[in-house]
Amino acid sequence: MSHLIAPSFLSADFANLENDIKMINKSNADWFHLDIMDGMFVPNISFGFPVISHIKKYSEKPLDVHLMIYKPERYIKEFRNAGADILTVHYEACTHLHGTIQLIKDNGMKAAVALNPHTPINLLSDIIADLDMVLLMSVNPGFGGQKFINNTYNKIAQVKKLITEKQLNTLIQVDGGVAINNAKQLIDTGVDILVAGSAVFNSQNPIETIHLLKGLRPF
Ligand code: DX5
Ligand code: ZN
Repeated sequence: MSHLIAPSFLSADFANLENDIKMINKSNADWFHLDIMDGMFVPNISFGFPVISHIKKYSEKPLDVHLMIYKPERYIKEFRNAGADILTVHYEACTHLHGTIQLIKDNGMKAAVALNPHTPINLLSDIIADLDMVLLMSVNPGFGGQKFINNTYNKIAQVKKLITEKQLNTLIQVDGGVAINNAKQLIDTGVDILVAGSAVFNSQNPIETIHLLKGLRPF
């Protein structure tokens, strides 16, 4: 599989979302990455169900919804109803992670677990076989535009090793500080999906940036 690009809407223009949705539709991006923050698990509040539903109405690509909220099991059905196709919960935010993953799958979505930068990979060993994807945070979650944490490369290699040892097809996603200057090294280390917010939406030509993140030759 060639790698996928999931632009994060946290850096989109919320006064003109339709414009950015259409831009992503016609770009080489693969998924819409939507960051949901509760002001408790992370020190920021983003947006909720009405915004997701509106994005779903216009989007022609899967919605990859990253939940940075405590006890996400309370809202699994609501996220499905709003239009999520892939639902990511944080390891650090779930007491009964196995049950939450089953609930996501029972509601017809792909299930993923995110790890904060300090959370070790070995904690995934008894859950990884149940996951469609692992999201490695390469910044402390909460805000766009932060600096990439270099230890993420070690974590990618470790999770890749775990996936290979267990003969799984779990995808690896990296989120935070991803840009054209580190995309190739991330892919070479084993990443399947790159999330990029500010690198896409704050660039002069987001369509071209997505094209370059995809590893395609410049226009
Ligand atoms: C951070 C979010 C990210 C964020 C990435 O908490 O999970 O998806 O929007 O933004 P950039 O790409 O600007 O680091
Ligand atoms: Zn995210």
